[in-house]
Amino acid sequence: MRKPMMAGNWKMNKTVVEAVGLAQAIRDSVAGVESVDRVICPAFVCLPAVQQAVQGSGVAVGAQTMHWAESGAYTGEVSAGMLQGLVEYVIIGHSERRQYFAETDETVNKKVHAALAAGLIPIVCVGESPAQNEAGETHRFVGGQVKAALAGLSGAQVQGLIIAYEPIWAIGTGRAATAQQAQEICGGTVRAAVAEAFGGAVAQATRILYGGSTNAKNIGEIMQQPDIDGALIGGASLQPDSYAAMVKTTAEVYR
Ligand code: 13P
Repeated sequence: MRKPMMAGNWKMNKTVVEAVGLAQAIRDSVAGVESVDRVICPAFVCLPAVQQAVQGSGVAVGAQTMHWAESGAYTGEVSAGMLQGLVEYVIIGHSERRQYFAETDETVNKKVHAALAAGLIPIVCVGESPAQNEAGETHRFVGGQVKAALAGLSGAQVQGLIIAYEPIWAIGTGRAATAQQAQEICGGTVRAAVAEAFGGAVAQATRILYGGSTNAKNIGEIMQQPDIDGALIGGASLQPDSYAAMVKTTAEVYR
C-alpha cells in the first residue's frame, strides 16, 4: 500500500515571518493525521525558520529546487549538502524551472542523482505543455521525461522517490485535469514508464502525485483514482484551511 502524500509547493510566496505563520497554522490544523504524509515546500530563505516551526509535528519540509554540484562557482545556487538536515524532500524539475530557468531532462537527471546521494527524497516533476496536449503528444512526451529523469538509478532508488505529474495547462489556471485524465496519465503513462524501465514491482511501489489546480473541492475524486497517490499543490497550499481540508479528505478516502 502506497502512503498518500499532500505536498504544498509555496513557490515564490511568503516572507520569512509570513512563512512561519503559515507553517504554524498548517502544523496545528493537520496535527495527528498520520495516515497522510504532509510536506510543505517554502522558499530557501524560509527553510530554517519553517523547519524549526514544524519540528516534531509530523509535517515535513521540502525545498523547491537545488543544484547538482557539491559546491563551487554557481552564484545564487544551493547544493544538496546545504539542504541536509533542513529538509527531507526536494522538488526537482518543476515545469516553472524548466520554462524560466532552462532546466532540461539532463540537468533534472543530474539533480535527482545528487539529491539521492545526499539522502534527500526527490519529488520529480513531469508534464506536457498545452500545445503538446492538443497535439496528442502527452503520452510519448511525459513517458520520455520520466525515463530521462530516472536514467541510471537503481530500482530501489526509484521506489523511494516521488514523481509528480503536472500538466502545464492545469497549473495555476483553475482548470485541473479531470480525475479520469489524471488517472490515465499517472497510471497509463508515468507508472507504465517506470514499469518498462525498472519492472512492475518497482512501479507498484513508486508514489505518483498529480498537480495542477487541485483544491479542497476536487481532491476527493482525484484521490480515489488507483494510480494517484497524492497531490503537489500550489495555490491551495497557501491557505491553511484548504490545505488542511485536502489532507483530511485524503485521510478519509484512504480509511
Ligand atoms: P496550482 O495548484 O496552483 O495549480 O500549482 C500546481 C503546481 O505547480 C504545484 O507544483
